[in-house]
Amino acid sequence: MAKSTKKTASKKEVSYTKEENQNMLQEFFLDELRDIYWAEKHLVKSLPKFQKAATSEELAGAFEEHLAVTEEQVARLEQVFELLGEKPRGKKCEAMEGLVKEGESIIKDTEAGTSTRDAALIISAQKIEHYEIAAYGGLCTLAKTLGTEEIAEILGETLEEEKETDELLTELAENNINEVAAMEDEEEVEEEN
Ligand SMILES: [Fe+2]
Repeated sequence: MAKSTKKTASKKEVSYTKEENQNMLQEFFLDELRDIYWAEKHLVKSLPKFQKAATSEELAGAFEEHLAVTEEQVARLEQVFELLGEKPRGKKCEAMEGLVKEGESIIKDTEAGTSTRDAALIISAQKIEHYEIAAYGGLCTLAKTLGTEEIAEILGETLEEEKETDELLTELAENNINEVAAMEDEEEVEEEN
């Protein structure tokens, strides 16, 4: 069997007390919560645009459903703030702002009513999901480190939902938005020739 590669994190010599370290980590955790809170609220505003732009009913329906899920996720984060004795407050998430902007430019760059647009929207939405999976995954682990099991569980629920959404989007691409989009491109090529 392979030798365990588990290492203890080494760090530079700094002189903070255990309590100071704990406080810094707690503050960072809170900051990250504010980041994802802003991100989710931004998505609540943006998902209807994605829904409206989608060509297939299935994809439009998936965006509509995810909007309802996202609203619940916002409420769940508010519950976490409450458990921490903090007022829910968002902090602008540059990453989510950028990802949504990318989605909006995809809408501009693709033709309405095509499966190519849907294929592009799916990729855009999956980039968003993966950002959220990373954020919630990290927050969930950190919540455990900070000894707040209840908060870890709440965040874990959202993490699972984001993973399910990502899988659903892959299924939509496979059955069979991408295929139809590929045929659209062939038709276009034939027309051009
Ligand atoms: Fe979310």
